[in-house]
Amino acid sequence: MRSPKDFFAPLALGAPAPLREVPFRPSRMIHFFDPSNERMRAKVPDIAPTVDVLLGNLEDAVSADSKDAARAGLIEVGKAWERGHTQLWTRVNSLDSPWFLDDVWALCHEIGDKLDVIMVPKVEGPEDIHYVDRLLAQLEARVGIEQPLLVHAILETARGVANVESICLASPRMQGLSLGPADLAADRRMKTTRVGGGHPGYLVRTDPVPEGDGDAGDGARTAFQQDLWHYTLARMVDACGTAGILPYYGPFGDIADPVGCEDQFRNAYLLGCVGAWSLHPSQIAIAKRVFSPEPAEVAWAQRVVTEMGDGTGAVMIDGKMQDDATVKQCRVVLQLARDLSAADPELAAAYGLETA
Ligand code: GLV
Ligand code: MG
Repeated sequence: MRSPKDFFAPLALGAPAPLREVPFRPSRMIHFFDPSNERMRAKVPDIAPTVDVLLGNLEDAVSADSKDAARAGLIEVGKAWERGHTQLWTRVNSLDSPWFLDDVWALCHEIGDKLDVIMVPKVEGPEDIHYVDRLLAQLEARVGIEQPLLVHAILETARGVANVESICLASPRMQGLSLGPADLAADRRMKTTRVGGGHPGYLVRTDPVPEGDGDAGDGARTAFQQDLWHYTLARMVDACGTAGILPYYGPFGDIADPVGCEDQFRNAYLLGCVGAWSLHPSQIAIAKRVFSPEPAEVAWAQRVVTEMGDGTGAVMIDGKMQDDATVKQCRVVLQLARDLSAADPELAAAYGLETA
């Protein structure tokens, strides 16, 4: 067991000290691109300013014979990258793949000073994070990387979900978690064949209507689709909150269904997530809209905070009771509005907030 006093000591001589708090930087959408694709690389200068996070994907969806090209393509993008509001992340190959070590080695050596976060897929337990943590410390020391690289884990195996709290608490490098619904479905032996979203067969139906009660028969019974991901997302949100790190919805694969995508993203937002993946440019605007509080919500939150004065006691506003707990919720919304506005003057104007 390590002493808690050592938790913030670098894991290799010469590595930078781990951060004590995960910096909150807007990350409403983590926009995936395939760096092996020359056409996509050419679009990076146009797309980067429109997203909070641009992620060079090296893992699934990049074919085995394109892995080297994807790594090289991301290095090319990283070398030309100017650090600014948009963060540069990567998703490396999984720890059990033949590519992980080469990915991390090459990226740290070539663009370790440009990358903000390394997303590690298929994390199953704290031991995976400990391995990545030590390896990154060694590479940071070797290369002379001054800012510690942060780690984001994808929750996409049953064992990962069972260990979610210890994964989040495994290292001060942990930045956040994403739901990986496609791999998770396969690993759990769910019977879906899609990437995220609901399923029309996952229902709860009202009771049978007895004969003679008017509208009898199954046609009179209403069925409601349930959310396949609620349990996992809720566990993720609590685990992340416990560790002071950030939860994200992952991918929504039905690009032709923006409404379904928006609903899934909004459920995640309301539950506590800060962002989601965008797999197609059309999902960027959806994530931006959903993960930025509505101006009316921000105005309401401001009103509650103002009328609650020192934040204790109770007041009635428009017939709704406000107290110490609602004022805390309103502060969450206001803080998010301020954090997002700092990098987005348009949003700041919509909220009536000043930008720095
Ligand atoms: C993402 O990686 C997923 O498996 O859903
Ligand atoms: Mg996956």
